[in-house]
Amino acid sequence: MAAVTDILRAKRDSKSLSSTEIYSFVSGIADGSVTDYQASAFLMAAYINGMSQDETYALTMAMRDSGTVVQWDRSLSPLADKHSTGGVGDKMSLILAPLAASIGIRVPMISGRGLGHTGGTLDKLESIPGFRVDLTLEQFQKQVADTGVCMIGQTGQLAPADGVLYSLRDATSTVTSIPLITASILSKKLAENPDILVFDVKCGTGAFMQTREDALILAQNLVSISEMSGKKASALVTSMNYPIGLSAGNTLEVQESLDILRGRGPADATELTIALVEEMALLAGISNGSELCRKNLASGKAMDVFTEMVEAQGGDIAAFEALPLAPVQIDIRAPRTGYWCGPDALVVGNAVRKLGGGRYRVDDVVDPLVGWQQEVPCGAPVEDGQILGRVHASDRRAAEEAVRVISSSFRWDSPTEPVILEVIHS
Ligand code: URA
Repeated sequence: MAAVTDILRAKRDSKSLSSTEIYSFVSGIADGSVTDYQASAFLMAAYINGMSQDETYALTMAMRDSGTVVQWDRSLSPLADKHSTGGVGDKMSLILAPLAASIGIRVPMISGRGLGHTGGTLDKLESIPGFRVDLTLEQFQKQVADTGVCMIGQTGQLAPADGVLYSLRDATSTVTSIPLITASILSKKLAENPDILVFDVKCGTGAFMQTREDALILAQNLVSISEMSGKKASALVTSMNYPIGLSAGNTLEVQESLDILRGRGPADATELTIALVEEMALLAGISNGSELCRKNLASGKAMDVFTEMVEAQGGDIAAFEALPLAPVQIDIRAPRTGYWCGPDALVVGNAVRKLGGGRYRVDDVVDPLVGWQQEVPCGAPVEDGQILGRVHASDRRAAEEAVRVISSSFRWDSPTEPVILEVIHS
């Protein structure tokens, strides 16, 4: 077995590591025999010198195997999950999971909390009174078998090496490496062990990947490493220069998800969700996924599955719909007539975070009621004085500050790009 220092020297000198070397290094991270400074040196060398496809695959599998790999009764197939690289107003998971389940695809979904300016599925779900995201893996598996869908939080049992490496990446400025991102995302998704993975790789001001080129490379990497590991996979590259849908903020986004599940939500968020489920359906051999989704949104079947999932996890939708608004609302009106492109996604994400809707430290408690709600979709003609949207805040000063920054990011009179920019099949 190669010594840790030999592995580090090889990566420092741009030599390829074998799968055995990568496995031994990652098991050392998981059992503590590789120190944080050695792991950090590896990350920096991998960041600077890159990793080949074979090395990325080996790193992904070694990280997956650092913990439990969920075992499913394959009579439950097709099992599918979606991963989004995160955006502003990105509530797709809440709609996608029950919608996919409503057309016969089982969805075991393990999600995260808000990160930086982007929201997190768990924070959104927890704005539903009583909803529990901390089920055990056994409860998770049982619910997927019984109701077709379950949405929980990351457990320490799945890919624990990623937990160690992710915090070291944060501390060593090595987060934005495509091989390291690929291995991090996929190790957790492969530990969940579905048959099918669909990725929504966002690009633009409010996304992790700023450029379409980088997003495309990440999307291709995610699809090819998933396939090397025996999964069916596809990816969409989608725009995140403007928030998706009409709201950003936990309670507001759950309300919008209910609207979409009831067939009366905004077109961009509805169409993106259907496109993601359609990808899952195609990989599952269902050729009319889009048609089935539209039918199940219109008939209420997708909403029924969501209700069943929420009840199974202790949540109360009636209590959610009776929640009060945040104490303060301030409308923003159009200062002119024209073609309104919308607010900048990053500005909205940061504003919502500052209002209390996101975190600066892991132990911050989020305020579920605050956020940004649009009356007009991005890319619409508006009249001078028309209400464009409103800020929901816990106090007037915070609301006024959010109004100021969001208004100053409005863009006007330029062509809006489509939400879906690229589709990557194998
Ligand atoms: N999400 C992850 O889980 N890991 C990354 O590296 C980036 C986004």
